[in-house]
Amino acid sequence: MTEPTSTAKLSVHGNDYELPVYSPTAGPDVIDIRKLYSSAGVFTYDPGFTSTASCDSTITYIDGNKGELLHRGYTIDDLASKSHYLEVCYLLLYGELPSPTQLEDFENRVTNHTMLHEQMVYFYRGFRRDAHPMAIMTGVVGAMSAFYHDSTDINDPWQREVASIRLIAKMPTIAAWAYKFSIGQPFVYPRNDLDYASNFLRMCFAVPAEDYEVNPILSRAMDRIFTLHADHEQNASTSTVRLASSSGANPFACIAAGIACLWGPAHGGANQACLEMLKEIGTPDRIPEFIAKAKDKNDPFRLMGFGHRVYKNFDPRATVMKQSADEVLDLLGVENNPILATAKELEKAALSDPYFAEKKLFPNVDFYSGIILEAMGFPTSMFTPIFALSRTVGWISQWKEMIADPQNKIGRPRQLYLGETTRAYTDIETR
Ligand code: SDX
Repeated sequence: MTEPTSTAKLSVHGNDYELPVYSPTAGPDVIDIRKLYSSAGVFTYDPGFTSTASCDSTITYIDGNKGELLHRGYTIDDLASKSHYLEVCYLLLYGELPSPTQLEDFENRVTNHTMLHEQMVYFYRGFRRDAHPMAIMTGVVGAMSAFYHDSTDINDPWQREVASIRLIAKMPTIAAWAYKFSIGQPFVYPRNDLDYASNFLRMCFAVPAEDYEVNPILSRAMDRIFTLHADHEQNASTSTVRLASSSGANPFACIAAGIACLWGPAHGGANQACLEMLKEIGTPDRIPEFIAKAKDKNDPFRLMGFGHRVYKNFDPRATVMKQSADEVLDLLGVENNPILATAKELEKAALSDPYFAEKKLFPNVDFYSGIILEAMGFPTSMFTPIFALSRTVGWISQWKEMIADPQNKIGRPRQLYLGETTRAYTDIETR
């Protein structure tokens, strides 16, 4: 933790208080309110945490006004174009880009942990065939606490490292098997001679009846999608992982909690909801109808894939994703994809509408991702599992950082209580 750089003065109920202010290496200063309740007897109030820093971190920085995203200081544009997902995993986990030897060792460790405990196959069979793959992932990852009990002691640095590698390595297998289970096809085992993205594609799309050659265009696009979703500061699911971990719960249970939170349509579930919305819109002539619905205060409908708590400019990931959508569809020979055409028209219409301009609502990471994933052959139900797979390294990196933080303590927010004060119990005969 750094030293205070200034103080903030607060006057409450006629008393004045001085609160330490810390300055970051980038972003807004923070006012330390940890002693506010004990000294002034008041809480701060911030539902949705719009103005609250929950921790300090050195992993990811977002400048919402500039539309900038850095992982350990490297821009997402550089990482998406010059790096690859496992190298980004190393960067997020250990803080620096790896040397060739470090990268080879890391990739070997991940590659050699991609198989699941064979008994987990029976765990999958307990689900209904129509179970959403996110329901399966939440359950299976939570169950890893039972299958990999030798890496659940969070106070043992070696077990923390083993759990981290196991989660990153096994998530593609877990997600692919959730997909295979939902379409009634046999599970495909990972192969050690394939890279991370190619392995995932093969486990999803190969069948025992014939050979499967991974299309290099698809594996490059898949790897870039993994990179674009890897980490994103203290978003809802990462905060869920941090809060769950603060009680000392094991890493598998905490990541399962993160997966459950990500599933919501306001968060990682937006990629599925966005493609379903684009299909409902259908043709560009229906765009004004949906823009009007999104602007109508009495209509709960929101433009999925639009808006962001932090970005008040373009989400840099959406910009890369949009370029990738053009490239992938072109390389796949998907001529004039109507959904992509509608998405581009919708983006243009929304960005030229004062409502979206005034509220600074821009396309986010979920706006174009579904178009690429569908062109690659995934059903919409697999979009959020792919987001969860990608974000596992971010959750794990933030978890490791929190566990190692000497300030780490159980998270326990307070409230503004507006309920009944003490009152006498009345017997049912008198009610
Ligand atoms: C992700 O936090 C992260 O970093 C998340 C994420 C990550 O990588 O982890 O980036 C991934 O979750 C991206 C967001 C995916 N969600 C969606 O695309 C769903 C649609 N978007 C919205 O639901 C919304 O924009 C949120 C949830 C993303 C952000 O909501 P906020 O910050 O709480 O903003 P808000 O709801 O207070 O909205 C501010 C105003 C409101 O109008 P007023 O009440 O001020 O009049 O903007 C309006 C909202 O009604 N608004 C929208 C809108 N998003 C906000 N109106 C129409 N369509 C939208 N999409």
